[in-house]
Amino acid sequence: MCGIVGFTGSRDQAAPICLDALTKLEYRGYDSAGICVLSGGEFNLIKAQGYVKILAEKTDGGRALPGTTGIGHTRWATHGEPNETNAHPHISSGGLFSIVHNGIIENYAPLREFLISRGYEFTSATDTEVAACMIEFFFRETREEKPNETPEAQVVEAISRAARRMTGSYAFGILYKNCPDRIFAAKRESPLFIGVSPEGQYLTSDIAASLHKTREFITLADHEIALISPEGVKVFSGELDELEKKPETVDWDVEAAEKAGYEHFMIKEIFEQPEAVKKTISGRIKNGRVVLDDLDISEEYLKNISRIYITACGTASYVGVAAKYNIERYCRIPVEVVIASEFRYCEPILDETTLVIAISQSGTTADTIAAVREAKRRGAKVLSIVNVVGSVIATESDWTLLTLAGPEICVASTKAYSTQLAVSYLIALRLAEVRGTISAGEYAAIIADLQRLPEAMKTALALKPELSYLASRYFIANDVYFIGRNIDYAVTLEGSLKLKEISYIHSEAYAAGELKHGPIALIENGTLVVTVAAYAPLAEKTASNAVEVKTRGARILAFTTEKTAAHFKEIADNMIVIPDIHEALLPSLAVVPLQMFAYYVALGRGCEIDKPRNLAKSVTVE
Ligand code: M6R
Repeated sequence: MCGIVGFTGSRDQAAPICLDALTKLEYRGYDSAGICVLSGGEFNLIKAQGYVKILAEKTDGGRALPGTTGIGHTRWATHGEPNETNAHPHISSGGLFSIVHNGIIENYAPLREFLISRGYEFTSATDTEVAACMIEFFFRETREEKPNETPEAQVVEAISRAARRMTGSYAFGILYKNCPDRIFAAKRESPLFIGVSPEGQYLTSDIAASLHKTREFITLADHEIALISPEGVKVFSGELDELEKKPETVDWDVEAAEKAGYEHFMIKEIFEQPEAVKKTISGRIKNGRVVLDDLDISEEYLKNISRIYITACGTASYVGVAAKYNIERYCRIPVEVVIASEFRYCEPILDETTLVIAISQSGTTADTIAAVREAKRRGAKVLSIVNVVGSVIATESDWTLLTLAGPEICVASTKAYSTQLAVSYLIALRLAEVRGTISAGEYAAIIADLQRLPEAMKTALALKPELSYLASRYFIANDVYFIGRNIDYAVTLEGSLKLKEISYIHSEAYAAGELKHGPIALIENGTLVVTVAAYAPLAEKTASNAVEVKTRGARILAFTTEKTAAHFKEIADNMIVIPDIHEALLPSLAVVPLQMFAYYVALGRGCEIDKPRNLAKSVTVE
């Protein structure tokens, strides 16, 4: 998730407009930013590492970049370190194109090789620079083949040809050196809009960034290419036919628009989960197999792992609990989950055959950093699952698998959890395959369901009205208990944390069988017991535990699948039924309604959802 902006007009300066829009988009990414203005046939480019305000200082509020046509970008790194070199815009090797990009060009590595073989040079590690050079390559080809076409038409065709060679997603804002006042734009899967006004046209990846300038927007569809000038916008299909596209009036209120119409970042991020999971897994499953190109671990090492420690804090540690069930079941390797604040004090028994998996959204959590350092000091190898490229944990680990969740703004983690889970499935499958501990049939079944997981998550999200209704019934609760067995227990830990951290209701999660060893004493008339029973082999047993508390007055809110629902028909006061999926992947579906339940309960209680009291997004002290 990054942010694209652009402006071309006949009077107003582009750089201050881009800066202003970038500030509004900063929540989408904030590790670096840059602006390029085309003026007098030259690109004037300034980039900065860090927040947009640093770019604003560096450009003297945009005054250092005079000109009426420009593009800008705020970055959330996915390829390459978050530094100035990798910041956008990128200039193509021959200097003809300047480009900003959102999305991921999945086949950028072979394209880069191809371009290098044709004499192109690269200064950054980004897929975006590859895209810039691809456009230049096809521009030169088109110009040679069709010298009588206008430069504008040649550029549009070059973009179309380059786009056909690229797999993955993109939204591009492009300047061509010899087309003054023109911005070219193209998109596939990543959003892109053009705000039109008498003063000029505003390119943006998020309407919110330009809503204070105009309310008339053209929405680009996949494969379309736009030619934007101060006078207006022409849109072409991928086959280069000119299309009739009329702007539509957007009547959102400006503040709400930053959250794309959602009331809070939390609910927006909950709804972003299918896309984030899809991004995280899509390039890593090829021909029905997990292929971790981004993980340079030898099969020899994977075969010899004798023990795994998973270390993390909070939500990330609960991903570890779910991962433990899967890794032990499918890979037959003992796994211990140690919360990071305890790791360095528990004298972990580590050697070179121990793999330590550190999980962190931010990559800057102090306790997890300390755990990584302790693991390495004791001779273990560290594989981290991190959302922020170039963060301390990513840098210090032996290997890193990135979650492609994009920036998570709400303090309560949702899409980071889901993408971490997705990566944990990939790790389990890769290990099981290498070690020969999984049958071909089971492996294929998990892969097939993993690929349909994003769609299944959308079905779970459609339960929103039911969850909102149930929250209205239970938001006055004082104490809530979550119970589940096996992998469902892992989900209850997260469901309970979500509820307590944003609604301030006291809540605890217990392995369902553990209840009668003490916690059942807390059950009173009307106590809410959230029962997660998605895991079919143990659903009946969990139902018995639900009966135990129900007979002592508890109200049962059951989360089941279609397969397990029958066990709860007579017991539950209320039921939420999620779609069936392979049991290894159940946490990804079960967590969605739990997140929404927590959200709507907190909403009902009038809590400050995105920034709960006493909490910080990243805990950088011990
Ligand atoms: O950035 P990290 O993933 O390392 O953060 C770990 C925890 O602090 C974090 O998951 C925390 O528990 C959240 N508030 C959960 O919603």
